[in-house]
Amino acid sequence: MDNFKRRDGLPMEFDGAEAAAGALNPDREPPQEEPARQYYFIEKCRQHVSEEGRRLGHPLTAAVITFGCQMNARDSEKLSGILERAGYVLTDSEEADFVIYNTCTVRDNANQRVYGRLGFVNSMKKKNPHKRVALCGCMMQEPSVIERIRTSYRFVDLIFGTHNLFKFAELLCTMYESDRMVIDIWRDADRIVEELPVTRKYPFKSGINIMFGCDNFCSYCIVPYVRGRERSRRPGDILGEIRALAAQGVVEVMLLGQNVNSYGKNLEHPISFAQLLREAEQIDGIERIRFMTSHPKDLSDELIEVMGSSDKICRHLHLPLQSGSTRILQAMNRRYTKEQYLALAEKIRSRIPDISLTTDIIVGFPGETMADVEETIDVVRRVKFDNAFTFLYSRRTGTPAAAMENQVPREAAQAGFDRLLACVQETAREQVARLSGQTRAALVEEVNPHDPSLLTGRLSNNIIVHFPGAASLIGRIVPVELLENHGFYFIGRMTP
Ligand code: 5AD
Ligand code: SF4
Repeated sequence: MDNFKRRDGLPMEFDGAEAAAGALNPDREPPQEEPARQYYFIEKCRQHVSEEGRRLGHPLTAAVITFGCQMNARDSEKLSGILERAGYVLTDSEEADFVIYNTCTVRDNANQRVYGRLGFVNSMKKKNPHKRVALCGCMMQEPSVIERIRTSYRFVDLIFGTHNLFKFAELLCTMYESDRMVIDIWRDADRIVEELPVTRKYPFKSGINIMFGCDNFCSYCIVPYVRGRERSRRPGDILGEIRALAAQGVVEVMLLGQNVNSYGKNLEHPISFAQLLREAEQIDGIERIRFMTSHPKDLSDELIEVMGSSDKICRHLHLPLQSGSTRILQAMNRRYTKEQYLALAEKIRSRIPDISLTTDIIVGFPGETMADVEETIDVVRRVKFDNAFTFLYSRRTGTPAAAMENQVPREAAQAGFDRLLACVQETAREQVARLSGQTRAALVEEVNPHDPSLLTGRLSNNIIVHFPGAASLIGRIVPVELLENHGFYFIGRMTP
């Protein structure tokens, strides 16, 4: 929410890098090395932004509009950090002088929403020709999308992809210095550029990228094509970032990767994800550690052990199932069977009894029948997921599943989806009900947007609780008695 954004004057992450860069004079040649080069362009942007602000008679505003997953949310914090450093005032409104859409392409409906927003922003730009519009994120890695924007959305000023986000400051400068659409898309990433400014949405919690890309090539999924090959950050860099966050008052971190269970395998000095967690746990000030997303095929006993014995690692595991039918799992290239998934879930629940298990499920994958959906429902009933995100299969051009001949008609997929959803809601409600009457620690995240007398907090197991309290508690971890169960959230009361 807007009121949690860090404003000018507050310390941002990695101030040291800027000082070390030392080559900020925008009248000089840009340095070649990163991140110094980007700090140079941030200074140059500041000149453009202040000149244009003077011309227009108001400080320039910028809005970052985010679609998709936690990775994109984190990327948007990086975009916001650069915009703020370049002198823009951040806002949530698309009325802003500069609007950037950070897009998602995992399912087609995300793409359609972006085209919808573009139609809307075009009408605003007609009234305000100084307005500038940019697009970035996963959708931009698809050549067909770029073609469509080039021909039908010619008012867009800047387009870049997932691999060169670190170059945002430089690209913004190019945009100011050019009167044509600026497009810069890389096919893959050759490096990880660290230590650029970040403006976090919440002062007390933060996502942290531990790896980028994905090598799993699930047959329905476009992520490996738009986010590239799997690359892990060095543990020292990750732990240094967590320490810096802790020093700024962050109490909860979420370690982010498409497949965190394979973290570190390709590093020069390999390290497991469980080892990384052990190290992260030692950092003073960090009270909670979450992570996203786990692939069942790579989830190790070592990780279950570390989670089970930790006070800081949250009691929540998001373990995408995708399907409960071994035949479909095989066609999806998931590399586990129904039985293996069930055995894994059982092992986790027996070693960490208070854990909350959540999942992702796709319905309508090519060749799926109602009998396959019944297998999925069987898994949902047996594992008793605390929550499940259910998706209708979306055909993504370029993936192996898109070329399969036995695509499922929409109505049949929808029928399976409805059956599954009813079952998911039932088990989730039963799972959540088990907590009624208990007192649990909640991290207070915000004032409830619908009822300002209530605060909204999150339990270690990711369940939300609303309870009366003062806004001064935001960012604190407080004990809350869970009184009324409303399905996916509780109404509670703070206990002394
Ligand atoms: N169609 C529907 N859902 C998909 N997901 C990924 N690709 C597709 C697709 N083509 C879902 C998976 C994944 C989640 C992030 O999105 O369930 O876990
Ligand atoms: Fe996509 Fe599979 Fe990689 Fe997840 S693990 S991002 S579903 S390819």
